[in-house]
Amino acid sequence: MQRLSERLLEWFDDHGRHNLPWQIDPTPYRVWVSEIMLQQTRVATVVPYFERFMRHFGSISDLAATDIDEVLHLWSGLGYYARARNLHRAAAIIATQHGGKLPREIATLTGLPGLGRSSAGAILALAHGDRHPILDGNVKRVLARYHKVAGWPGASRVQRELWSHAQSHTPHTRVAAYTQAMMDLGATVCVRSNPQCDHCPLKADCRAYATGTQSHFPGQRKRKPLPEKSTRFLIVRARNTATLLYRRPPAGIWGGLWSFPEIDAAEDVGSWCRTLGLDRIGEVVEKPILTHTFTHFRLAITPIEIVVRDTAHTVMDPDRWLWYNVNKPKRVGLAKPVETLLGAAQPAQELKENTG
Ligand code: ADE
Repeated sequence: MQRLSERLLEWFDDHGRHNLPWQIDPTPYRVWVSEIMLQQTRVATVVPYFERFMRHFGSISDLAATDIDEVLHLWSGLGYYARARNLHRAAAIIATQHGGKLPREIATLTGLPGLGRSSAGAILALAHGDRHPILDGNVKRVLARYHKVAGWPGASRVQRELWSHAQSHTPHTRVAAYTQAMMDLGATVCVRSNPQCDHCPLKADCRAYATGTQSHFPGQRKRKPLPEKSTRFLIVRARNTATLLYRRPPAGIWGGLWSFPEIDAAEDVGSWCRTLGLDRIGEVVEKPILTHTFTHFRLAITPIEIVVRDTAHTVMDPDRWLWYNVNKPKRVGLAKPVETLLGAAQPAQELKENTG
């Protein structure tokens, strides 16, 4: 029988994806940005974000020279914002320490913010054809089934075994095509539920297929239910057009994004306003709860709407506070529920960024 890589490459030529935007002109920079965007995110979601990002930041030095607010603005809706902050930090390092060119050594690449062994390997393989194995979620599933590797892939023993298989299957020629083929097979044929084994080039010696145990691989992590947290968002409007946002600290959830101020259950809205010198008029209106799910917890958000006098515009520190006008939106990054809540009270056109 032909080697796995030969069968996979034959399949790829007919059935793989060949026209994704980052495959056309696969420069190291474009491939890098695409690989970061594609972490935990589907191709169809990424494509418009990728194209817009490339229109704005044509090179690593362009990206490095841009304010983080603008980068987060273009990332708004894609989620996992640490990816955007790491990309921006890495661009600054590449611009100052590597002459604006993405390093070609895997050890240097994995030393940059946001780049692990698999994404660094994918970049070098896809952009240069250098022989490096990859092991993203899709490839883990293909190899765990093909070799019947039991256990959760996050466990270090399982991970070591999968890396060793990934390494030995990687061919010495057509590495870029092989790398894309592995990802495509995992994304289109060897999918998590109802894998399309009839169309798989590896079914002849796939050990999970032989035993009808595809659904047992890869093994699941034993999961506890997600903990619940709650918060109150204060939606402070001045004359309906400007809404008060604050810049979240760089670390933690929605780091660096602009969000509504939060107050805990014990805090009184009136005294919060007085502390900030805001002159509240009208009622305090509680809106229906909005739930947002993060990787590690679920957040129940109670939006509370108040109106203040316009004079409030002048008293806030502009580094921390922003009167956001949905009709003339400033280019900043907004957390997803903030976009939703800003849009909910405004004409539908204001939801145009909300494509993720
Ligand atoms: N997921 C991660 N990298 C990918 C790529 N280059 N193409 C399609 N899906 C991917």
